[in-house]
Amino acid sequence: MRILVTGAGGFLGRHVARRLLTDGFEVTGFDLVTGSMPDISWVEGDLRDHDAVATAAHGHQLICHLGAIGDVYMAAEHPALAAQVNVVGCANVALAAEAVGAKVVYASTWEVYGKARYEPMDENHPCAPDHPYSITKLAGERILLAADLLRRVPVISLRLGTAYGPGLRPNSVFRVFIDKARRGEPITIQGSGLQGRQFTHASDLAGAFSSACKSDLHGDAFNVVAPEQITIKQLAEAVVARYPTEISFGDPRPGDAPPAMVSAEKAGRLLGWEPLVSFEEGVAGLMDDLEGGG
Ligand SMILES: NC(=O)c1ccc[n+]([C@@H]2O[C@H](COP(=O)([O-])OP(=O)(O)OC[C@H]3O[C@@H](n4cnc5c(N)ncnc54)[C@H](O)[C@@H]3O)[C@@H](O)[C@H]2O)c1
Repeated sequence: MRILVTGAGGFLGRHVARRLLTDGFEVTGFDLVTGSMPDISWVEGDLRDHDAVATAAHGHQLICHLGAIGDVYMAAEHPALAAQVNVVGCANVALAAEAVGAKVVYASTWEVYGKARYEPMDENHPCAPDHPYSITKLAGERILLAADLLRRVPVISLRLGTAYGPGLRPNSVFRVFIDKARRGEPITIQGSGLQGRQFTHASDLAGAFSSACKSDLHGDAFNVVAPEQITIKQLAEAVVARYPTEISFGDPRPGDAPPAMVSAEKAGRLLGWEPLVSFEEGVAGLMDDLEGGG
């Protein structure tokens, strides 16, 4: 089976492409620039360009759609760009999938829910995002699920937890803490540090893409988050346990999604998804990777 992975040059796209290769799929990467990964072929193109996406989709039975303005802060600064890439991009993927008869697995986010009305939030929780990133990610999800309903394009949307692992972008809280502590500089926690996240390892998220590709289910969304909520303070403590330095506290960062528990029970039950990497293992592995040069 041939899979087109959009955003294959990005942090999660690389993990997903590698996992799909290991699982025996033939993988084509689609991104703005050609990535360097052995055994995958590349198509350079822009998700906003309908013809580029349609041409790239030829000959593929599946499309894992991860290409996006995935940086929350960039989406806030450039909402029009986020709308074009994250919403129009999904519409172009839906049309391309329809033309070639491919199934789509979409990288959505747990942030589509907005403020929690109950916890843990399951897939029936209302979606009321209030940030350009999560608004555009939800609009993209809805465009794709509408294509499942109206155009018979099989679509699975994975509402991914906040990801970490090798290849993480430098402005993520993990990288900021580790990079500063390794240089012996103090770590500043923005806010109380008690805000929690179900940080989910990139290899576990990649496993969910593989499960969704193999599943016959479609027309549905699944939360894909690790079970444990880790506070930013716990993350800082895990980092200073290896690289001793001072921890201080600063003003909260605007735009951060409020903490809430999310349930991945449905993905476990229907996709057979099981997170395998504990936070301790995952964060130690990330520090090992960065020590080895990333
Ligand atoms: N990282 C997370 O914590 C997280 C959590 C939930 C959901 N997601 C979703 O997972 C996906 C991947 O996230 P990531 O963290 O790897 O982001 P990333 O920014 O590392 O990767 C996104 C990729 O999309 C590509 N891209 C951007 N604009 C494009 C365009 N116009 N045409 C073609 N390609 C384009 C980029 O070049 C990049 O390689 C995104 O859809 C994101 O919304 C990420």
